[in-house]
Amino acid sequence: MSEATVMEKLASLAKRRGYVFQSSEIYGGAGSVWDYGPLGAELKRNIKDLWWSRMVHQRRDVEGLDAAILMNPRVWEASGHVEGFTDPLVECRTCKKRFREDQLAQQPCGRKPSKAPGEADECDLGEARNFNLMFRTFMGPVEDAGSQVYLRPETAQGIYVNFLNVQGAARQRVPFGIAQIGKAFRNEITPGNFIFRTREFEQAEMQYFVKPGSDDEWFDYWMEERMEWLVSLGIDRENLRFHEHGPDELAHYAKKAFDIEYRFPFGWKEFEGIHNRTDFDLSRHQEYSGKRMEYIEPGSGERYIPYVVETSLGVDRVLLVLLADAYREEEVEGEERVVLALHPRLAPTKAAIFPLVKKDGLPERARRMQDDLEGASIPSFYDESGSIGRRYRRQDEAGTPWCVTYDGQSLEDDSVTIRDRDSLEQVRVPEEGVEAWLRERLNPAAGG
Ligand code: GAP
Repeated sequence: MSEATVMEKLASLAKRRGYVFQSSEIYGGAGSVWDYGPLGAELKRNIKDLWWSRMVHQRRDVEGLDAAILMNPRVWEASGHVEGFTDPLVECRTCKKRFREDQLAQQPCGRKPSKAPGEADECDLGEARNFNLMFRTFMGPVEDAGSQVYLRPETAQGIYVNFLNVQGAARQRVPFGIAQIGKAFRNEITPGNFIFRTREFEQAEMQYFVKPGSDDEWFDYWMEERMEWLVSLGIDRENLRFHEHGPDELAHYAKKAFDIEYRFPFGWKEFEGIHNRTDFDLSRHQEYSGKRMEYIEPGSGERYIPYVVETSLGVDRVLLVLLADAYREEEVEGEERVVLALHPRLAPTKAAIFPLVKKDGLPERARRMQDDLEGASIPSFYDESGSIGRRYRRQDEAGTPWCVTYDGQSLEDDSVTIRDRDSLEQVRVPEEGVEAWLRERLNPAAGG
């Protein structure tokens, strides 16, 4: 299958099953902005919950934060974004399209609109200029330079400016981290590849503050830890790799950086970064705000500005990774089936409940099962329409790991079948044991 076909199929499935819709679709869309439908919203929430659980709840050395999107504009001067968060923009005088100069090989300019026969296909590019990617808006009713503010292009700065607030309030000692999940905005010149590169997206970032000199060790630790988490989500390790930034790729704040890349249908691309940001950000905030950003070691009284190891995950990008990695086309008994083999903990719906036939009280019993699962906060879906085969196929596409069916035998012994999405095996389980059966598989550590 060509890369375009795979991405088209993914986007089409995502729309059909309610994962991702084009924003403002009825008006023709809104420039690479996307909305998450019922299943997409659940999947995104599950990703964020699992990240938060691993990064904050399961650790004593990381605190959570939820900083505002709008910040004092001085923050972005200090961080270097006003001056340096730019891409080289070139414009074609013929087709009027705009391109990133450093990506011209991948996104060649359009052709001359009125090309005469035999005329060369050349584009007519102007000089490159630096285009700042930050969205600008105004705070308050007066629209002048003094009221200009930015939509944050990364969540990290909210963490830096709160470093001492969090450290003091949570009584943390270095090394410790601050994590947050939130929206970020970049006015990308060439967004694209579905939800891969968009102008509004979400980041899950963690800044780990360490004593200078211990940063290399912590960098290695976080590289391993982040990869382990991604593999725990069921992503095929063969489709993941690290890519170290060369000197010309490093961001203005970074001493060392590794991307975690996924083998997308359109090639290996980054979806998470691990960066050694040294003391760059805290030092700059100290300089620009005039407030000390030092940490004082208890006991020794030693003062220093900590170094920072950052882990920065794109939530929308990892969602695309998960969809791409889970997408399968298979043949079962001579019929094609499309499956989203999402890890059960990520799957938006955990169980679909079917009455085999619409009689003998089976629909009522199936509905009661749905009530029970709802009461237990296990997302489920009731379906009585169409053949059982069609109902299975719909759930396979939606990524639902288990289908629970009431049939004739249920009337005799109060049991149901549970069909596994991946192995297609069916087991018989007592009706009252279904909730525990599901729990055991969704949360094995808790033992049901
Ligand atoms: N705080 C560091 C930082 O923002 P980055 O490499 O620029 O580093 C981190 O971004 C992650 O944010 C990327 O790995 C990617 O997953 C996500 N990201 C960045 N720009 C994006 C965009 N335009 N659309 C979707 N995700 C994006």
